Amino acid sequence: MAKIRNEMPADVDARDDLLDRVWGSSRFGKTAERLREGRKPAAGLSFVAEHDGNIVGSVRLWDISAGPSRPALLLGPLAVDEAERCHGIGGALMRRAVATARRRKHRALLLVGDEAYYRRFGFSAEKTAALWLPGPYECHRLLACELAPGALDGAHGLVIATGNAAPAPSLDVLIAHLAREHERHAA
Ligand SMILES: CC(C)(COP(=O)(O)OP(=O)(O)OC[C@H]1O[C@@H](n2cnc3c(N)ncnc32)[C@H](O)[C@@H]1OP(=O)(O)O)[C@@H](O)C(=O)NCCC(=O)NCCS
Repeated sequence: MAKIRNEMPADVDARDDLLDRVWGSSRFGKTAERLREGRKPAAGLSFVAEHDGNIVGSVRLWDISAGPSRPALLLGPLAVDEAERCHGIGGALMRRAVATARRRKHRALLLVGDEAYYRRFGFSAEKTAALWLPGPYECHRLLACELAPGALDGAHGLVIATGNAAPAPSLDVLIAHLAREHERHAA
């Protein structure tokens, strides 16, 4: 069984490679990415699943405001290596992320995803109808989970990023990413 642990700086390449395998470059076009780009993830809220020394799963959370003055976290992307799916890794990453966010006194989580999957972790679209994201998305896929009861009562307005700025990626990182993409398409 994979071990869930905090992401470390040394995991970054393996994590990016996993996300590239799962999503390809389409991940950069997602509206949720507009809330992540150029930001650091929320402190202590990046997790990986490791199996036999390989990174096979990843999830991160990001500081946002769900409408004016309503601190919350955006969860995602959640990804598990295709070869490792349906062994509970996604669920273990989700439970670790939600439990840690709760322990750190965060009040609510948002994500864009399938309710059929995320309902089991306490997410629904019940309180997101009056919120909107900075770009196109399917409204029924904007889901939330309150960690503090009532945290999203009356939530309305634009969801914005509030996380600290991340250093711009170096040219080396961008070249490595493009090289991986090229290899994948050539394969
Ligand atoms: C979604 C994902 C993270 C689940 O990871 P996982 O390790 O397989 O998750 P678990 O083993 O905890 O759960 C698997 C169960 O969830 C179900 N499931 C997976 N994706 C689902 C979805 N989109 N909707 C409904 N159920 C889903 C599986 O069918 C399986 O059901 P079962 O337990 O009845 O067999 C993984 O499939 C993945 O990386 N998918 C591609 C990226 C993605 O879709 N990310 C989520 C954005 S919506």
